[in-house]
Amino acid sequence: MARILITSAIPYINGIKHLGNLVGSQLPADLFARYNRARGHEVMFICATDEHGTPAELAAAKAGKPVAEYCAEMHAVQAEIARGFRLSFDHFGRSSSERNHKLTQHFAGKLAENGLIREVVESQVYSVDDGRFLPDRYIEGTCPNCGYDSARGDQCDNCTKQLDPTDLINPHSTISGSTNLEVRETKHLYLMQRALKDKIAAWIDSKTDWPLLTTSIARKWLNDGDGLQDRGITRDLHWGIPVMKGDQPWPGMEGKVFYVWFDAPIEYIAGTAEWADANGKTDADWERWWRTDKGASDVTYYQFMGKDNVPFHTLSFPATILGSGEPWKMVDYLKSFNYLNYDGGQFSTSRGRGVFMDQALSILPADYWRWWLLSHAPESSDSEFTWENFQTSVNKDLADVLGNLVSRVTKFAKAKFGDVIPAGGSFGPQEAALIADLGARIRDYEGYMEAMEVRKAATELRAIWVIGNEYLQSAAPWTVVKTDPDQAQAMIRLSLNLIRIYAILSQPFIPDASAAMMAAMNSDDWTWPTDMPEAMRTLPAGHAFTVPDNLFRKITDEERADWQQRFAGIRS
Ligand code: MF3
Ligand code: ZN
Repeated sequence: MARILITSAIPYINGIKHLGNLVGSQLPADLFARYNRARGHEVMFICATDEHGTPAELAAAKAGKPVAEYCAEMHAVQAEIARGFRLSFDHFGRSSSERNHKLTQHFAGKLAENGLIREVVESQVYSVDDGRFLPDRYIEGTCPNCGYDSARGDQCDNCTKQLDPTDLINPHSTISGSTNLEVRETKHLYLMQRALKDKIAAWIDSKTDWPLLTTSIARKWLNDGDGLQDRGITRDLHWGIPVMKGDQPWPGMEGKVFYVWFDAPIEYIAGTAEWADANGKTDADWERWWRTDKGASDVTYYQFMGKDNVPFHTLSFPATILGSGEPWKMVDYLKSFNYLNYDGGQFSTSRGRGVFMDQALSILPADYWRWWLLSHAPESSDSEFTWENFQTSVNKDLADVLGNLVSRVTKFAKAKFGDVIPAGGSFGPQEAALIADLGARIRDYEGYMEAMEVRKAATELRAIWVIGNEYLQSAAPWTVVKTDPDQAQAMIRLSLNLIRIYAILSQPFIPDASAAMMAAMNSDDWTWPTDMPEAMRTLPAGHAFTVPDNLFRKITDEERADWQQRFAGIRS
């Protein structure tokens, strides 16, 4: 039994995420967690909400709520939706938790002790009417280069020129619209990443089994241009983790908070501590996942994230950890995803374009989405959601292939042989061939799952369903029953056992349907089918079963057209 630590990139608090966000981290992480638990490994699967930063503050202001209250509410909303999608987190934490405050301050203190923090005085735009410093992207004005009147303080969207806020003509705050802006000096802490460059490079070089996409992104940021830059880890905001050196005040940094990207990944660790707190465990119980001096040296740690998150996980967070000089567990394998597009364009949160997690669950159960998303995960390239493709996939894979097999077998068995598994006949060459084929395919499926090859695993699983259908088609127990009822009984005995095996294999992808299949087989034996002939005999003759309700319904053309219209976006 291995010990497997899994974290998913933690979603921003400000709003409900769309399906593209879901498939880029949380859902594949859940697939992997479920698979590893099914294989009997000890799994710790952590996610959380990413609650700090200006976007959270502004979203709260827009909702007319104090930011702490807004975050608490949105956390509850996201947690509920995560349950709806059957995301099996051991804990869904909050980056604003007390645990994260303490740990983030702890790391900052260690970095300072190790001489890796320096203070920098910067000039920054202060909005007198808003009573705050403005991040560059919240300042707009006229572009000095092209005259575009809504250029942002960091870049002009019209001519793409990189800008400084002070370059803008007639700048104003996008928060209040105020033009009462002035440049003020403010002091910030910088993490001296340059000083850690060799350590980080050596660590990345040691990751010989990482995909090229990941290491090339990391090396590019390490070596390109000016290479790895020291980075500011504090901000002039009200909402966030107060800047402290461990549990000591940090002179000169009063009223400032840590930058959201500094505290967010630390929440992976803090979230595990929150898990301990929420479950009556001790510090030792979470430390054995994270401290290599306290039991974590036999842990394998996997991270899941969208490709835009890779630099933060290969450079910034490792810099925090390595710079602390303490024996924290670092990531062993990092699985990153490309983007999912929506029906000929991009998902857009601001324009309400695409399907958001709550909306998805309001029209169809989780399994339908899980199956489509995972079987079309944007791994080697971006992928695209279209309603046609979704309809085809649900109707064919789920309803025709898997659902139909389960309903045909159970209905026929009940009609011909009653409520228990029939005892007659024995397995012949056709059954032996199926068993052999299945055994080989399950090994392939395991290989893809272990390698986190999500699409290939889905394809293999579907092939496993298909060979069951092909067997039924050619064995044709409904014909054989007329001439050789004993043989038909053996075929049905095998097919009912097959349903149980399918429940186990499919569970990481479609947990609800799997539970329904297992319940119909009146079993709770989820033992992974490693010994194939044995697994085919788990449900013995005389064992009661029931006919389940239809596992999946088909999506009609009308629904498809209706949904396509409904989710096209509010403004375009
Ligand atoms: N909230 C970020 C995003 O959605 C991800 C943060 S991941 C962590 O892009 F490393 F900070 F935890
Ligand atoms: Zn411009």
